[in-house]
Amino acid sequence: MKRIVKRIAAHCIVPVVLLTGSVQVVADDATLYQRLGGYDAISAVVDDVVAQIAADEKLGRFWAHRGDDGIAREKQFIVDFIVSEAGGPLHYGGREMAISHKGMRIDEEDWQILITALETTLDKFAVPPRETREVLEFFDSTKADIVEES
Ligand code: HEM
Repeated sequence: MKRIVKRIAAHCIVPVVLLTGSVQVVADDATLYQRLGGYDAISAVVDDVVAQIAADEKLGRFWAHRGDDGIAREKQFIVDFIVSEAGGPLHYGGREMAISHKGMRIDEEDWQILITALETTLDKFAVPPRETREVLEFFDSTKADIVEES
């Protein structure tokens, strides 16, 4: 027990402001999942981004005429995907990015609308600069599999 306490004390700590407004302290080498505030925080971010892009004049075409349950299922897959990629305790059971987006003809302008929506959400939830950068880098790492047209 002593050794564990020592090891934890040796790490720097960073405050994480949860979406509830409360502050939690985590080690600065904690996973991105932990530093973002866990499942509920990631789920709230996904909800907020999807609400924005579904209402967008151009990007909204991908969510038009889709059933509520289909959208809820897709959102759950996106949460699972981000949680598992960020080091969280979930298994992503959906399809790979290249397969699930193939043929949708997602273009550069669509992508920029998504990223602007994501930046707006991260800013709204006061996500700190380091985590904002890592989330944006993660999204960027999926771009080549998703965007088909310039
Ligand atoms: C402008 C960009 C994007 C558009 C227009 C878009 C659109 C869509 C649509 C319409 C689906 C439903 C596909 C279906 O039901 O067959 C889907 C599925 C999905 N998307 Fe995206 N997407 C975009 C970017 C992203 C990004 C950046 C991620 C990850 C960070 C992502 C993760 C997923 C996941 C996990 C699924 C579910 C895959 C499955 O059903 O197995 N998408 N996307």
